[in-house]
Formats: sequence, C-alpha cells, structure tokens
Amino acid sequence: MAITRTLSIIKPDATRRNLTGRVTSMLEEAGLRVVASKRIRLTQEQAEAFYDVHRERPFFRDLVAFMTSGPVVVQVLEGEDAVALNRRVMGATDPAKAEPGTIRRELAESIEANSVHGSDSDENAAREIAFFFRPEEIVG
Ligand code: CMP
Repeated sequence: MAITRTLSIIKPDATRRNLTGRVTSMLEEAGLRVVASKRIRLTQEQAEAFYDVHRERPFFRDLVAFMTSGPVVVQVLEGEDAVALNRRVMGATDPAKAEPGTIRRELAESIEANSVHGSDSDENAAREIAFFFRPEEIVG
C-alpha cells in the first residue's frame, strides 16, 4: 500500500470545545502524520466553494453557517492509504452510526457538528489540499 495524503478539517464544534489536540492524537495514534496544519476562520465564500458539491442539498446553508461559526484547523495527513485510513478513524458521518473508538463516535455532537472532515477519494484529496495549502507549506 502506498503512502498518500488526505485533507482533514477539525471543525468548529471541536475547536470550540478545545479538542484540537485530542483529535490530532487520535489521528496520529491511527498511523497518520500531520505534514501541514493551520488554524483559520473560513469565510462564507471559502466554505461555499469547498462544499460546492453539496450546493443543492437541503443542509447546504446550515453547513456553511456552521463551518464559518468558529475557527477550524485544516491539516494535510500522510500515511498508508491515507484517505481510507482517515475515514476509518473518523467513523461514519452520523456519530450515532459511527463505530466505538472513532473520532465522531467519541467526540462529535451531531451529523452536522461532526468534529472532522476527511477527503473521500485521492482525487478529492488532491483538490482539497490545493484549496488550502501551497506545495511549500507541506513538509513531509
Ligand atoms: P463532511 O465530511 O464535512 O462533508 C459534508 C458535511 O455535510 C458532512 O461532513 C456533515 O457535516 C454534513 N452533512 C452531511 N449530511 C448531513 C445531513 N443529513 N444533515 C446535516 N448535515 C449533513
């Protein structure tokens, strides 16, 4: 299995509860390495552009409002098959359906305030990483 990269976002519900370190520890314990990280406040335009694929979904407006409601920590994670590994440690989108021990099951508040985002494919990971980071900001 190849070493690949994925984009993670620690969402406003987690930064608000001071869980940045706890989430990052869970990622690291799962075998992922943080090779870039920054704490930012998303603008409405950034959140809408990032979640453009969900524009027609009924939850789009609420999702953008939530993602701009407080700071987020965007991170590039590196590891063996990083997209799949990160999705395993995050757990299902809905924390009620996530496996015990996953970030969302242990820490998330709801399907919207679900503590973390992770890319869902290598193609989207490349697009999402480029959305937030210049190549020289990623140090493996
Ligand atoms: P994320 O992995 O960031 O990708 C899209 C986000 O939309 C998802 O996590 C959830 O936070 C949110 N989301 C997905 N489905 C729903 C839903 N049914 N209701 C509200 N929010 C949702």
